[in-house]
Amino acid sequence: MKFELPELPYKLNALEPAISAKTLEFHYGKHHQTYVTNLNNLIPGTKFENESLEKMINEAEGPIFNNAAQVWNHTFYFSGLHPAVNSAPLEHVAEAINGSFGSLKEFKEAFIKSATSLFGSGWVWLIKNPKGTLEIVQESNAGNPLRNGLKPILTCDVWEHAYYLDYQNRRLDYLNAFWDIIDWDVVEKRF
Ligand code: FE2
Repeated sequence: MKFELPELPYKLNALEPAISAKTLEFHYGKHHQTYVTNLNNLIPGTKFENESLEKMINEAEGPIFNNAAQVWNHTFYFSGLHPAVNSAPLEHVAEAINGSFGSLKEFKEAFIKSATSLFGSGWVWLIKNPKGTLEIVQESNAGNPLRNGLKPILTCDVWEHAYYLDYQNRRLDYLNAFWDIIDWDVVEKRF
């Protein structure tokens, strides 16, 4: 199976000023595309040749895991964002956030703290665990919580390539800007 770069659900400049068109040009157009191309070059002749990304995330190791997870993670990240419209968590997610973290304010603080403290490259995830409550999970490099049986509903890419052109070393500024462009409609559907 040949994987293809999924279309972005918005224009390259749609997330400005939080994330510039220049950043998306590289992050989506170059980095995300490279993971797709690498994966298509890696899987022919292996047992993963006709398998889904989820199967590779659960079972593959090394370069196939890394590239499959990075394809999935980026698609999930980009499709969870939209132009800032001051949205807030909707009913089920709002209730689960209050139940799991106390309040939206406390959840935001915990999420951003987790993202700023993640050493090096990786992803911060909001996941729904088998009990139905929410947790924040840090993953290094291409890590994806599906591998641990958890259901992701939101992610933030904290690889430098996600923010360096716009924010250089100021990861916290990127995270605050990211917060304003979360598409809570999508998060509600995923929940
Ligand atoms: Fe990325």
